[in-house]
Amino acid sequence: MAGGGFVAQGHVGNYNGGVTAFVVITCIVAAMGGLLFGYDIGISGGVTSMDDFLMKFFPAVYHRMTDGSARDKNQYCKYDNHLLTLFTSSLYLAALVASFFASEITRVFGRKVSMFLGGLSFLIGAMLNGIAMNIIVLIIGRILLGVGVGFANQSVPVYLSEMAPAKIRGALNIGFQVAITIGILIANFVNYGTAEIKGGWGWRISLALAGVPALFMTIGSIFLPDTPNSIIERGHHEEAKRMLQKIRGTEDVKAELGDLIAASEAAKKVQQPWRNMFLPRYRPQLVICSLIPFFQQITGINVIMFYAPVLFKTLGFGDKASLMSAAITGVVNVLGTFVSVATVDKFGRKALFIEGGVQMIICQIAVGGMIGYKFGLTGEGSFSKGEANFLVFLICAYVAAFSWSWGPLGWLVPSEVCPLEVRSPGQAINVSVNMFFTFIIAQGFLSMLCHIKFGLFFFFGGFVILMTIFVFFFLPETKNVPIEEMNRLMKAHWFWGKYIPDEVASGDKYTA
Ligand code: BGC
Repeated sequence: MAGGGFVAQGHVGNYNGGVTAFVVITCIVAAMGGLLFGYDIGISGGVTSMDDFLMKFFPAVYHRMTDGSARDKNQYCKYDNHLLTLFTSSLYLAALVASFFASEITRVFGRKVSMFLGGLSFLIGAMLNGIAMNIIVLIIGRILLGVGVGFANQSVPVYLSEMAPAKIRGALNIGFQVAITIGILIANFVNYGTAEIKGGWGWRISLALAGVPALFMTIGSIFLPDTPNSIIERGHHEEAKRMLQKIRGTEDVKAELGDLIAASEAAKKVQQPWRNMFLPRYRPQLVICSLIPFFQQITGINVIMFYAPVLFKTLGFGDKASLMSAAITGVVNVLGTFVSVATVDKFGRKALFIEGGVQMIICQIAVGGMIGYKFGLTGEGSFSKGEANFLVFLICAYVAAFSWSWGPLGWLVPSEVCPLEVRSPGQAINVSVNMFFTFIIAQGFLSMLCHIKFGLFFFFGGFVILMTIFVFFFLPETKNVPIEEMNRLMKAHWFWGKYIPDEVASGDKYTA
């Protein structure tokens, strides 16, 4: 079987029915979850660079920025404050913990219950942030936002994949990333506008507006139908059939329904999905689901997403120029993601990973070199206008590369390499590793900038070299491969093949 090609067999991907308006609308509502996540990523950097916000909650940072002391001349260190980074990063720690609870709730009570709880928690968090009078309320609000993100990120991608007809599953999965990037962009523009507000309360608007996508998702989730898979999982086969007929727009859903029931039966037979995950035959999945989210974060993308305005200010840009440059990278991020939607099933995952990786490496070396040349080790210096523009260009080229490679694929690939029997632990590992390293980067970046200075860009660039090599040698191409065929794909791989017993790769019971 090993050399047998990976053509879709039977009716995989060819079920009856089409793309109905109903499925599109439900998916748009569900994708609001990505908007929550994205808005949050984009808002914190802008807010933490606003003077009024710093004066109120982080006076020490504010004074260091403005008092002109010797230390202040060192541009690299002026924002290095652990409490300030805790503001950004506490959310991801909360999301990491919440995602474990969310995975149980999603399984037992259905996807929409998780979306509802996530939206609600996010809504309360946004309100607390908007009215916060002290740092404790601010951090509690952040933690509630984190719980919201944990629930949304666990349930929304699963919801989208389960609702989507197989033939557009890849594109719909990336729809989640499209929503993330739009959320980041909206946040960038909101910050740009609220920074103008004179009364010192602009940051409150920025933080409170997170309640808008949260409200959409909370109310939307009440009206959303649950997925057929989830309904079957809870034993209601007739109801699942009616739902499938509605979302596919046809009476004849026998084939798909049969497969869903078979898949659900097969998954139920696996008593210990977590223990299974550590069996040698799932080694490729274990490695891919752990390394891909780690690699996604160690590209350094969130240095730009969280701290672009702070970074630009560190490099001597003015307030407005900093926020504007951050908004420009936000636009590039959205547009680039559409490149991925259009090409991922044509050119494949590996081609995008490798092109994106090489482009990122070049940009990181150039950015690190430029900053090193102008600011040296002391951190004293400035850019001319032309140099500043070139720097923004390099950062945009880096963001573009990420947006069509590691951004969407970092979520897509781990979710598609796992056979059904280990899909849920695989996804849980993916989400939690991602959140953990998002936390580490958010918490560590300003200190790292202060200590390793421009070398930080070489540090991330070095990792991108490693991960590009990993993709080249160790990542099997999953383009157009049905999920049910993953064991065979691994069996045929030069390295992973030895972990997969022959009977697993050819056995029918694994191709439910
Ligand atoms: C990542 C985020 C990142 C975003 C940028 C997502 O795929 O998980 O950490 O901020 O892409 O667009």
